[in-house]
Amino acid sequence: MGLWSSRSKTSESEVDAFEQVASQVVDVIATAGVVLDSQNNVLRASPGAVQFGLVQNRRLVHSSLVRLCDRARNQTGAVVEEMLLESGLQREPVWVQARAARFGDKYMMLLVDDRTEAKKLEDTRRDFVANVSHELKTPIGAIGLLAEAIQGAGDDPEMIRKFSSSLIRENQRLASLVQELMQLSRVQSAAGLENAVEVDLSVVVSDAIDRNQVLAEKRNIKVQGSTSPSLKILGDYEMLATAVKNLIENAIVYSEPGTQVGVGLKEVDGVAEISVTDSGIGIPESEQERIFERFYRVDPSRSRETGGTGLGLAIVKHIAANHGGQVKLFSQPGVGSTFTLRLPITLQED
Ligand SMILES: Nc1ncnc2c1ncn2[C@@H]1O[C@H](COP(=O)(O)OP(=O)(O)OP(=O)(O)O)[C@@H](O)[C@H]1O
Ligand SMILES: [Mg+2]
Repeated sequence: MGLWSSRSKTSESEVDAFEQVASQVVDVIATAGVVLDSQNNVLRASPGAVQFGLVQNRRLVHSSLVRLCDRARNQTGAVVEEMLLESGLQREPVWVQARAARFGDKYMMLLVDDRTEAKKLEDTRRDFVANVSHELKTPIGAIGLLAEAIQGAGDDPEMIRKFSSSLIRENQRLASLVQELMQLSRVQSAAGLENAVEVDLSVVVSDAIDRNQVLAEKRNIKVQGSTSPSLKILGDYEMLATAVKNLIENAIVYSEPGTQVGVGLKEVDGVAEISVTDSGIGIPESEQERIFERFYRVDPSRSRETGGTGLGLAIVKHIAANHGGQVKLFSQPGVGSTFTLRLPITLQED
């Protein structure tokens, strides 16, 4: 048996010519191909079509595909439609692009491509653009209003001072949002690590603590780094420092003033572990996976106060992945959280 798994009564030469062309076409372009007669009986079905659950007892399973073929029968050229196929052997609903076209005088060719992954990507991209626009709108709107307020404040120096400091805060928020977006795009586009060099993680940790010093003082939180010996991996210094900085920043922001944050570094079975522990508000179990999604915040109203946009952990997750590692989380609401960045040590011992 060739590409096609079933046959019907047609003259030998017709079948040969037909099969040759049809199998070539389907081989090249389609996930699944079906050929039907004028009564919508299935004459041929590629293995893909059978696997896909499109055909049963020589009939098309999905009425939406039958309707597409009927439409194509009444016109010249192909009819193309994207649709969700819910029933059939396929347990999960799948997005497909289906194309039907008359083939010869009597036949109908139906080609079906699985577009589920492409559709998911498209949805994610659309959501992302909508989220970015929304996040940009808030500070931009505030900056406009504050500028008008300054203009209207006349000679009142007290009001001008008050509005200006709000203006500066909103501008900082806008700047950090744009910076985070650029970081995210950088770490997302790096398939692996182009410029991997030997990086001492103990330097990364103390640098990341330094970068949070002002914030920690402002919130009266002591950041305690354990004095660990040097531990080297192959990686991108700036990315690693950003990841650890983001984790420490969260630990500070989501804790009460007066508490402590601990940062540890150790090696466990060939994996370097950087852990950041706080005794802050904690994260409910149901949210622990979602917080790594872009723009996801457990409490958006609190984030409005802190100026968080929900990109920090998405960046951390990508950086971990770029280094062949992962981020682990242990957290209990009201008790605190520990985020652990696990990075395989790829350096050869000399
Ligand atoms: N250490 C922590 N303790 C409690 N909640 C946390 C902690 N770290 C993160 N979260 C929760 O996870 C959410 C996502 O964190 P993420 O760092 O991605 O964004 P963000 O802090 O809101 O904003 P930013 O992009 O400025 O970092 C936070 O809004 C917060 O609800
Ligand atoms: Mg954050």
